Amino acid sequence: MSFRRMFSRRFAAVAGTIFAVAVIAWLFAYEPVTRNLVASEAVCTYCHLEQEYVPTARLSFSSTHPIEPKEGESLALCVDCHLPEGFWAATFTYTHYLSMTDLFGHFRDRASERAGDWIPAGAARAYRARDRLFEYDSVTCRVCHIEAEIKPKRKRGKKAHKEALENKETCIECHDNMVHRYVDLRPDAFQTPEHSETSGSLPPNGGGRVAAASLQGVSTLRRGE
Ligand code: HEC
Ligand code: HEC
Ligand code: HEC
Ligand code: HEC
Repeated sequence: MSFRRMFSRRFAAVAGTIFAVAVIAWLFAYEPVTRNLVASEAVCTYCHLEQEYVPTARLSFSSTHPIEPKEGESLALCVDCHLPEGFWAATFTYTHYLSMTDLFGHFRDRASERAGDWIPAGAARAYRARDRLFEYDSVTCRVCHIEAEIKPKRKRGKKAHKEALENKETCIECHDNMVHRYVDLRPDAFQTPEHSETSGSLPPNGGGRVAAASLQGVSTLRRGE
């Protein structure tokens, strides 16, 4: 075997190994890098107005979550509530940036939105965000909150949480308007064929709606709109 051939074979093996290691490393790093860097608050606010959504911004319209963090509790970031965990879910960050999908991978269905009554863009966004959380059983909330371990202090919350477990209601059905500017629930929110009967008789909403009662008004403040 000539020196030359041996060299190129060894080179190919080394290059192949480096490539394989790089691919595997990327597979491991993909989700954390996407969540922590690519989908960081700084990038979200390239398009979404900082003052509107980032609670730490000056005169922000959003509040922190939790409202009063105790020691050791960190504030929830955009991705914590808006981007489900997982390898594929991370990919929807990129499709969202291309303005193709939301962060759950759903294509934006403009035609059907326009078909109904006119809805202000700000409200339509809130409706879509809520619809997704409803559809996916508030999956992002459940990363931090374990339903069975939530022990509301007051009677109202205790009763609501007991009923939520019995009726299989999901967090967003009661905890809307927790952090951002107040947007009313649309009258037919949270309806599925099996669900439409129970959702008509929801208990008085608590938590978020109460907490956010001070954030008034529906408006669309986004750059370039
Ligand atoms: C390249 C611009 C861009 C970036 C960056 C961006 N978004 Fe968006 N986002 C949009 C547009 C455009 C809409 C749709 C606005 C509308 O229809 O009024 C939207 C809508 C949304 C909605 C409402 C749900 C929906 O389906 O409309 C949420 C929630 C959201 N973005 C969260 C985020 C988060 C969290 C980040 C950071 C990880 C982010 N966005 C980064 C452009 C962007
Ligand atoms: C504690 C969870 C939570 C965090 C943190 C959070 N959001 Fe939201 N966001 C929601 C929920 C829930 C909705 C659905 C509307 C509602 O009921 O408030 C929503 C709605 C939205 C909407 C559509 C409604 C609107 O007002 O335009 C956008 C856009 C959005 N969020 C962007 C962001 C960005 C950007 C960040 C980070 C700076 C962020 N959110 C942080 C929970 C969160
Ligand atoms: C990054 C982690 C994280 C995420 C994601 C998250 N929460 Fe929380 N939340 C907390 C912490 C920590 C507290 C304070 C301790 C407690 O009350 O459990 C809290 C408190 C709350 C409270 C009590 C009132 C308040 O604001 O202090 C409600 C209600 C709540 N969360 C609902 C939700 C819902 C609904 C979602 C999904 C849209 C969600 N949370 C997403 C961490 C999170
Ligand atoms: C049927 C309505 C309903 C559903 C569904 C629901 N909650 Fe609640 N939740 C309430 C009410 C009402 C309170 C009490 C608010 C108060 O008294 O200020 C509460 C209180 C809380 C609190 C504060 C507990 C404390 O420390 O006092 C947290 C955290 C919370 N909910 C998280 C969640 C999460 C996460 C989900 C989904 C797994 C969820 N809730 C589903 C109605 C609901």
